[in-house]
Amino acid sequence: MDTEITVDRLILMKGSGEKIAALTAYDAGFARILDDAGVDVVLVGDSLGMVLQGSPDTLTVSMGDMVYHTRLASRGTRRALLVADMPYRSYDTPESALENAQRLVEEGRAAVVKLEGGREVIEAVRSVVRSGIAVCGHLGLQPQSIKVYGGYKVQGTDPESAERILADARLLQEEGVSLLVVECIPRELAARISTSVRIPVIGIGAGPGCDGQVLVLHDLLGISARIPRMAKDYLETRDSIRAAVTAYIRDVKEGRFPGPEHSFP
Ligand code: KIV
Repeated sequence: MDTEITVDRLILMKGSGEKIAALTAYDAGFARILDDAGVDVVLVGDSLGMVLQGSPDTLTVSMGDMVYHTRLASRGTRRALLVADMPYRSYDTPESALENAQRLVEEGRAAVVKLEGGREVIEAVRSVVRSGIAVCGHLGLQPQSIKVYGGYKVQGTDPESAERILADARLLQEEGVSLLVVECIPRELAARISTSVRIPVIGIGAGPGCDGQVLVLHDLLGISARIPRMAKDYLETRDSIRAAVTAYIRDVKEGRFPGPEHSFP
């Protein structure tokens, strides 16, 4: 439990079938609770735009916000792998992607940076990977593209878009991406992606066939304005945040979360 989690360790976990438990945190206090409870990945998500800042989406989150919250979360993270989101418009060009990824690592102390998209962001991904910074991809529902979708909708539901997501997952792997988040895609597609790539695939609203699961902490604690279908309020029947987080980690590791009600056919 004490050994530091690295990307290589997550790959070993995928190989051995041990599920990866990930949660978001945006400050030192919550990051410490998650880390002490044994979470494998702490994600400083741009979901902070909604759950901390009260915005309707993630589009207003700035690089300054992400660097600040990543630095705070890093102070509470000892064992878990610290992944930080690159916010909207921070990776429009390969040059801006590299500069902003370096800020998250150097000023924020992130171990991995996450950015949304597949083939359309491949040059940005390439420039960050080539600089030696570990990258996490994010496919399926990409919250930064919410205006393009016209809302939070399940992605990859027709054969053509499912094949495109699978091809993007393979492409990201070939470009040297270390990890992949898949959000709100049919559970069979998520399982197929997970078995088709060597890198760990962490799902949210993507069913139990992924190599791991991630949730927004405020959804797990039942304090978000609206708890999405893919989440579960773990605090409802427990008397402390630590107990709720521990129950989530145990459920992920033992394959009890997500249930069929938390994903899409
Ligand atoms: O911003 C975030 O919290 C995320 C998760 C939903 C995966 O990207």
